[in-house]
Amino acid sequence: VKNKIVVVGSINMDLVVNTPRVPVIGETILGSGFATVPGGKGANQAVAISRLGGDVAMIGCVGQDIFGRDLLENLKTNGVNTANVKMLDNTPTGIAVIVVKDGNNFIIVDPGSNYKLTPEMTAALENEIKDCYMIVVQLEIPMETAKKAIEIAKSNNVKVLLNPAPAVPLDDELLRKVDILTPNESECAIITGLPVENAEDAKKAVKYLNNKGVKQALITLGGNGVVYNSGNTVIHKTVPKVKAVDTTAAGDSFSGALAVALSEGMDIDAAVDFASKVGTLTVMKKGAQTSLPYRKDVENYNL
Ligand code: RIB
Repeated sequence: VKNKIVVVGSINMDLVVNTPRVPVIGETILGSGFATVPGGKGANQAVAISRLGGDVAMIGCVGQDIFGRDLLENLKTNGVNTANVKMLDNTPTGIAVIVVKDGNNFIIVDPGSNYKLTPEMTAALENEIKDCYMIVVQLEIPMETAKKAIEIAKSNNVKVLLNPAPAVPLDDELLRKVDILTPNESECAIITGLPVENAEDAKKAVKYLNNKGVKQALITLGGNGVVYNSGNTVIHKTVPKVKAVDTTAAGDSFSGALAVALSEGMDIDAAVDFASKVGTLTVMKKGAQTSLPYRKDVENYNL
């Protein structure tokens, strides 16, 4: 069975600090617990896939600096194939400044080298993409590059999972090519132009996306579970309440887990159960990749 997954996406170093409150412009306050943690939505999804037992390769760019070297090494250590992760001169590695307050976070990303991944570089890797089961794409790389990767996948009958984060309005032509779309509520509101504030709204948004040609829409609602279409039926699946220590990378682990589950032949309902467990485990630990569970953690965890 062809079950390889290729992630086309970002690789960041996360610079994380906890804060007791959000400062106002011009104010200095004391935070605590500073840490550098491997992150980036693309790399988080790739590492999640690998830790869950998937066969995964990454296409992306880091800079030739200390973060770039550490991140490349880290992907390898986590079992991600990095043959097509390029280290570029004269460009800083992507970073994210993450401020955590009471388990919630604010993130500012400077894409750096991630924005140097061009459509041409991606097109040159068509052979990598064409014999995989699915590509997994996010939007921390140039939109033109994301579109090129999706176009190549489609023309080779490879499935496309798009995690549309950070969100921008998406054109209909692009939506038609997406097999699986995984926005959270706020991303979904930006993409559809509809209000998405509760599960009822999310159900309408799933229908809207299905009508636009998205075969499988899944809207993640954080601690409130996920709304998705199982065939033509729209379902709200809740998750048990847990104490969220840090939500960073929960959406990434959900998307990665979904890719693994589907590549193993699970149906969408079983895949959502699996991915929800993975998302839940992720919020129980701090940091991006530091919080991503392994397959055995998921098997030992009963919702
Ligand atoms: O989704 C979480 C990720 O968003 C972080 O790891 C950060 O790097 C940003 O890309």
